[in-house]
Order: sequence, then structure tokens, then C-alpha cells
Amino acid sequence: MEKPISLEKILFSQGFGTRRYCSDLVYADLVKVNGELAQDPEERITTDGLILNVDGKDWEYHEKAYIVFNKPVNYECSHKTTHHPSVYSLLPAPFVERGLQCVGRLDYDTTGLLLISDDGQFIHKMTTPKKNIGKVYEITTPDPITTSQIDHLLNGVVLDDDPKPCFASACKQLSENVLAMTIVEGRYHQVKRMMAAVGNHVAKLHRTQIGTYHMPSDLAEGQWRWLYADDLKQLSQSVDTLSGK
Ligand code: URA
Repeated sequence: MEKPISLEKILFSQGFGTRRYCSDLVYADLVKVNGELAQDPEERITTDGLILNVDGKDWEYHEKAYIVFNKPVNYECSHKTTHHPSVYSLLPAPFVERGLQCVGRLDYDTTGLLLISDDGQFIHKMTTPKKNIGKVYEITTPDPITTSQIDHLLNGVVLDDDPKPCFASACKQLSENVLAMTIVEGRYHQVKRMMAAVGNHVAKLHRTQIGTYHMPSDLAEGQWRWLYADDLKQLSQSVDTLSGK
């Protein structure tokens, strides 16, 4: 059983604003705790299975936030964007307030599976190159993909910023112009540069899988959902299996 914590602290931890502001939300009758109108911001409550309702919206309590997001095209994975709106603008404001970060970035024109969290250790574990986590990208090309291009990707291509070749760890041709390619590193524009290096081009890029975790098939573009213990276990197994732990 979790130790009880004051309601004000809980609201603050979830990203609802400063402690003073969270207190005021309670005094303004805008907070419910498991369906009951809260009266006292100092009330100590347990967080196990806690459902808050803040200003009419239900909010599951999560000590750390782990979410999966289906990224649409033309959004940047950055808080300070340059040319396009931020993916964070598509998420509830408390996520931004509590400092959620993308677990590895996708280009503004790449779509698909994006993990987002405020757990620094998790972000590090999922992004460090040492862990060799495979990421699967579905690549649509303007020109037909040839067997020799696939062989080249699997045998390794040298990109202009590093003499060390980078490899596709798996390639599966899905149609004449669509290739599912797995890579384990996360170099800058890696997939686009690898495709250019073998004489083709990326028209559309969509990430479908990280480790053994697939994008949920019912998660529409622009939508997010919480990751629960089973999802996190699966993600963590992807890391442990591949790094030989
Ligand atoms: N490789 C790219 O070129 N772009 C991405 O967004 C991800 C991988």
C-alpha cells in the first residue's frame, strides 16, 4: 500500500500547476477524488488506483508518466520548435507542465510510434545506443526498391559524418515501393540518409515498432494513451534480451 500524500502535492506532481494553484483548484470546488468532491488540499490520500477529476476531466494518477503517441506528419518533437507546431501541443497541458520528453525524436515529416515519458532512467535506457533496441520503420519510396539496394542496406552503408558503416538489422519488402527496415542506432536522419546512400529516396517514413512493442492498432493518428505495467515489461524485455542481460 502506498503512503498517503497530501492532495495538493499529488495535483502538483501530476502537472496541474504550482502548489498554491493546486490548492486553489480544490478551494474552487474543481477537484474530485475517486468521484467525491474534495474539500481540503491538505487531505492525505493514497495513490493506488487513484482517479482525480480536475475541472471536469478525469485524470489517472501515475507517479511517472509513460505514454505512447501516434505522431502525425508536420509536428516537431521539440518543446522549442522552429517551423512546425510541437507534438506537445497535441497532449494535455499537465504533461508539458510535468516535463514529459520524447524518447528519441522523429523528424517533423515522420509519422508513427513515439514514446513519451518523464522518467529519465527509462528515457536513457530506451535511447542509449549500448542497448541495441531495434526500431522498425516502414519506408515508402518513389522508385521501386531493388534486391541490390536491400543487400546494400543489410551489408552496411557509410554515411558522410562517420566512416563506421551503419546497417539495417532486418529488411522486409512489403511491396514494390514499401520496405520495413529495422535499425538499432539513432543517427541524425539515419533512415533517409541510408536510403539515399543506396540510390533511392524516402517519400514517406512511418515508425511501427520499438523492440517487440508495436504501435497499438486502434490508436488513431494524433492520439495518445498510457502505457501500463504489461507494456513497460514488454519494452524492458526488448532491452534486456537484446543487450544480453
Ligand atoms: N530516420 C530518419 O531519417 N528520420 C526519422 O524520423 C527517424 C529515423
